[in-house]
Amino acid sequence: MLVYVPPHPLIKHWVSVLRNEFSPPPIFKSAMAELGRLLIYEASRDWLETIGGEVQTPCGVANVEFIDPREPVKVVPILRAGLVLVEHVSSVLPATQTYHLGFVRNEVTLQPTLYLNKLPDRFPDSSLILVADPMLATGGTIVAAIEELTSRGADVKNLRVVAAVAAPPALKILSEKFPGLRVYTGTIDPGLNEKGYIVPGLGDAGDRSFG
Ligand code: PRP
Repeated sequence: MLVYVPPHPLIKHWVSVLRNEFSPPPIFKSAMAELGRLLIYEASRDWLETIGGEVQTPCGVANVEFIDPREPVKVVPILRAGLVLVEHVSSVLPATQTYHLGFVRNEVTLQPTLYLNKLPDRFPDSSLILVADPMLATGGTIVAAIEELTSRGADVKNLRVVAAVAAPPALKILSEKFPGLRVYTGTIDPGLNEKGYIVPGLGDAGDRSFG
């Protein structure tokens, strides 16, 4: 499994804004959306196919390459906080379709429960799928989400995860279960506290975004 933390000063900046407990919800959300935009850009770098052609410019004819609109990236935000991470996805990726998944983690058992599933019965073969969840803590939620996707025909080698913060337990279980996966994250933190929160992390991304 590949885990990539883009070494970019803007990524460091927006992660720092997210970490600050005094960032109010509007600032937190805009930082999360901006971080998501940058991570999606990185995740799509060696992923999207282009189709060639020619266009007439005002000064001549140019050879060009466009993203193939017939192959939209399937974007899967994990509610609630994943919604904020993909807020700007349409300004990065020219062709997308969005399918929502809602999971909530039990505060005591830390087990995820699926409460909303808007996935198609079956993904077309070779679909590129981008999953967004800001926090990869125990990994229970992201593993359950990927299992929902693969049960509908998703191929892990065509699947990429974007996250704001990832913790070692989540990365360990993901690499064991899905060795072909690629994860793009703003940072990797040392571990979890007794409540299953990432430390130092950024708190509860859902609550900090939506109250
Ligand atoms: C948080 C977070 C992840 C999940 C991570 O969601 O946004 O989805 O927990 O934990 P895990 O890796 O241990 O499964 P939460 O259940 O708080 O829902 P929310 O986004 O609606 O607040």
